[in-house]
Amino acid sequence: MNYRTLLLDNRDGIVTLTINRPEKLNALNGEAKKELRGAIDSLGNDHAVSVVIITGAGDKAFVAGTDIEELTGLERESGRAFAAGGHELFDRIEHLSKPVIAAVNGYALGGGNELALACHLRVASDRARFGQPEVNLGIIPGYGGTQRLARLVGRGKALELILTGEMIDAAEALRIGLVNRVVPHAELQAAVTAMAKTIAGKGPDAVRLSLEAVNAAEELGLADGLRKEAELFGSCCATEDFREGTRAFLEKRTPVFQGR
Ligand code: COA
Repeated sequence: MNYRTLLLDNRDGIVTLTINRPEKLNALNGEAKKELRGAIDSLGNDHAVSVVIITGAGDKAFVAGTDIEELTGLERESGRAFAAGGHELFDRIEHLSKPVIAAVNGYALGGGNELALACHLRVASDRARFGQPEVNLGIIPGYGGTQRLARLVGRGKALELILTGEMIDAAEALRIGLVNRVVPHAELQAAVTAMAKTIAGKGPDAVRLSLEAVNAAEELGLADGLRKEAELFGSCCATEDFREGTRAFLEKRTPVFQGR
C-alpha cells in the first residue's frame, strides 16, 4: 500500500507508522487521518503484526495538532462531524487488538497529544513538548482530549493544560503520568523498539485480552469490569499458550508462544 502522508516500516511484525508531513510539523490533515485509519484497520487484521509504533517524521514534531487550515471553514454541524470523525479514528487505535506505542519525538500538541493519549503506551524523547493549545484558537480539544487527558492525569492537571493552553516539557509529562517513560532524544527509537520486542515476546492472546480488559475498565463500573476480567481470564486459560507459559515456568525454560 502506498501512502502519501504515512511511512510504514514492518520489522518482524513490529510496525512503525510515521506521520510524514514534516514541513507542517506532521499536522493531521484529512488525507493523513484517512491513511492512518486505513493503515490501522489493515494492521488490526494482520496476524503477523504484534505491536504498532506511531511516531512523527523529522526531528521536531510528533504531531503538532490537527491541520489548522482545515479548521477554518467549520460551523456548528460540520464542527461536530469533524470532532466525531476524529473520535472514530482514535477509538480504533485505542481498541486495536495489538498494543500501540506512541514514540513522541517532539511537539505533541492538540490532536497530536490526543493521538498519543489514544495509544496504549507513550514513550517520549527528552525534547518532547505536550499541550492542548486549542483555547488559543477559540475552540476546545475535539479529538478526545477533554475525556482521555483527565482520565490519565486527573481533572486538575487536565484542566490546567486545557484552560491555559500552555505546553509542558517531557519531565513534567512524566511527573504527571502523561507518558510512561522519557529517554534521551537519540535513544527514542531504540527504547521504543526494545519495549515493543518485550511485548512481542509474550503470548499474543494474553496481550490482546489484557488490552480488552483494561479498555473495559474505561467503559464499565467495577462489578461489570471484574466480571469481564473473569471472562477474559477464562479465555486465556483455554489457550495452548497458557499451558506453554505455565509449563515453561515450572520446567525453568523460556516459553515459546504460538498465538493459540
Ligand atoms: N496546522 C497546520 N499547520 C501547522 C500546524 C498545525 N497544527 N502546526 C505547525 N504548522 C505549520 C506552520 O504553519 C508552518 O508552516 P509554513 O512553514 O508553511 O508557514 C510549519 O508548520 C512550521 O511551523 P512553525 O510555526 O513555523 O514552527 P515553530 O517552530 O515556529 O513553532 C509550534 C512550532 C508547534 C509552536 C507552532 O507551529 C504551533 O503553535 N503550531 C500549532 C499548534 C496548535 O495550535 N495545535 C493545535 C491545533 S487544533
